[in-house]
Amino acid sequence: MIKIDTKAALGAADEKEIDAMRRAAEAAARTLADGDGAGNDFLGWLHLPSSIDEEQLAAVEACAARLRHDCEFIVAVGIGGSYLGAKAVIEALNDQFAAYKPASGARVLFAGNNIGEDYLHDLMGLLAGHKWGIIVISKSGTTTEPAIAFRLLKGQLERELGSEWAARHIVAITDAARGALRGLATQQGYDTFVIPDNVGGRFSVLTPVGLLPIAVAGFDIRALVAGAVDIERGDDELMLTYATMRNALYHSGKKIEILVNFEPRLHFLAEWWKQLYGESEGKDGKGIFPASVDFTTDLHSMGQWIQDGERTIFETVLTVERQLSEVVIPTDETDLDGLNYIAGRRLGEVNHKAELGTRLAHVDGGVPCLVISLPAIDERTLGQLIYFFEKACGISGYMLGVNPFNQPGVEAYKKNMFALLGKPGYEAQTAALEARL
Ligand code: PA5
Repeated sequence: MIKIDTKAALGAADEKEIDAMRRAAEAAARTLADGDGAGNDFLGWLHLPSSIDEEQLAAVEACAARLRHDCEFIVAVGIGGSYLGAKAVIEALNDQFAAYKPASGARVLFAGNNIGEDYLHDLMGLLAGHKWGIIVISKSGTTTEPAIAFRLLKGQLERELGSEWAARHIVAITDAARGALRGLATQQGYDTFVIPDNVGGRFSVLTPVGLLPIAVAGFDIRALVAGAVDIERGDDELMLTYATMRNALYHSGKKIEILVNFEPRLHFLAEWWKQLYGESEGKDGKGIFPASVDFTTDLHSMGQWIQDGERTIFETVLTVERQLSEVVIPTDETDLDGLNYIAGRRLGEVNHKAELGTRLAHVDGGVPCLVISLPAIDERTLGQLIYFFEKACGISGYMLGVNPFNQPGVEAYKKNMFALLGKPGYEAQTAALEARL
């Protein structure tokens, strides 16, 4: 089971502040449970893990098995909450050099999460001549980035492998009834899965949005869901502790939370976490800024700032108790590199000592440190971690006094982009924006 340790942060916030935040966290958890807070029409994620039934899991697994068997590549098209959860879990579980090794089923690639011209060009070049399919994911069904990627990829798939193949190897995950994607899927006869109305994008990884690509990549979605159920059915202590401490630190002037990992495979877990907390809490002029680093890599870049820069940060370190593989440092007769003092020891042990040394150094440098322990990086633990972060986010958002389940700020760039692109209906803004450029 995942655990949290707060002792390296306790000194950084006033005891009374921590007590007050604990009471606020308990009140926020009650608001969440009672469903009477802001954004309460988006609480479908709260009891989602325990409500996923056999029929839903079996349907996702059957679709995944077919795609995995028929295709060499599956392109998951989506952005934000329709992308990051699947990406985070797949990257955490995959062989990190899977792209360069033979595959036993379809490889999952991602598109629609940017508008990079070269990115899509290179992806389309890779797909040419292969058997492939698409999982297109958009709750609204109208998001520009995935819509553009899907138009291009769908066209290529139909041209290269035929309309019949395309219709059978495109799966749409979208709203039950609304949006352009739903209309298109119905018209083309695609297989579909529904994103429930009351589950927002960034809370949707345990719906088919995350589960289907994760299952296509060959991972055990039942264990992932079981991990989330572990936390859902337990008490709220973990979430209350995390929400209490991060808010106490925030009120003590620590405005930036850095999620730290010492395992390269957790890089995208941090990207998912940044979206979850950034989009949920950053509003009404408030909110902890969620940042992330990959150590020890970033100790050689951001390490200086963290040790010695402005003291407005705290760290939340993801520590992993058990490694999946074993690599032992060999003895060298000449010892010219001076490493014989660690010969015979596992790389994981060296990494762990680096982590402990870093944590102590950062605390000494005025950076409070919360530690979240993961028994190992596997499906069950990731399921626990995902639900833990989601629920703590709901609690923390209510403590901050914001609606954690909306994202009004995301619209600003879209309106400007539409006006600058000349989208019908935005004519009035175009000239004013162009004059400012
Ligand atoms: O969390 C959210 O709601 C957003 O990040 C969305 O997931 C993102 O904007 C993609 O939206 P959609 O699934 O409607 O294409």
